[in-house]
Amino acid sequence: MHDITSYLALATQLARDAGRYALNVQKTEMQVQTKSNMFDLVTDVDKYNEEFIRNAVLARFPEHSFLGEESGTHGEGEVKWIVDPIDGTVNFAHGLPIWCVSIGIEIGGSLACGVIYDPGRDELFSAAKGAGAYLNGTRLSVSNTIEPSRALFVTGFSYNIAENPDKSYERFVAFLKRGLLVRRLGSAALDLAYVAAGRFDGFYEGNLAAWDMAAGALILTEAGGRITHYDNREYSIYGKNVIASNGVLHDFMLEILTV
Ligand code: IPD
Ligand code: CA
Ligand code: CA
Repeated sequence: MHDITSYLALATQLARDAGRYALNVQKTEMQVQTKSNMFDLVTDVDKYNEEFIRNAVLARFPEHSFLGEESGTHGEGEVKWIVDPIDGTVNFAHGLPIWCVSIGIEIGGSLACGVIYDPGRDELFSAAKGAGAYLNGTRLSVSNTIEPSRALFVTGFSYNIAENPDKSYERFVAFLKRGLLVRRLGSAALDLAYVAAGRFDGFYEGNLAAWDMAAGALILTEAGGRITHYDNREYSIYGKNVIASNGVLHDFMLEILTV
């Protein structure tokens, strides 16, 4: 029997601790290096936070497994913690306030619970499967925007955008040509959380990783949103591209993204 309540409690505590630590370092100093290419940054805080979260999880639940952006896969346990120690690292490294810590938990391949913590605004988004999504304890629900002209969309671009992965240019231009309002914040986890909170009406991005989306995908669906891939396939966090919406605007987004 899985104790989802205690998993979520530990995830919440670790996301808060890691987020507060990162916020303090951001105000002082940090070491920045590059990763997959010269635009893809990693700081000493990304690495420190991931190790801190992984050690705490595996000390408490040694039978669980772990997947983190900075250190990869550890173990094969049925309960898998999927962690982005800082989502929005470029913002973080530039002193911008738009970044978060994201922790999602899968059991046997299905999302069970997750948290996203934004320490700058002290906002904790959380969800457990079948139990709804919450922001600092208040129930969340997606927007009810019907009219695309009234909608605010958000997207993101991967670090290899110069290669136009998955027709990124054409898909973005398709939104612009319709005059739609589109933002690019730089944190996919917060993009998903903000659709869940009704701040955005829809989010799409290609080439994401499981750690960007694990917590946010569950928070979004538990807030009443809809999530698929570009081709309307059933969503998986391992599937890279994503359309997340308030549900009402989903078919509209699917159509625009067919280029
Ligand atoms: C990135 C952010 C960004 C998205 C990139 C991601 P990172 O994650 O979520 O919004 O556009 O595709 O890689 O590198 O800051 O953890
Ligand atoms: Ca990320
Ligand atoms: Ca990251």
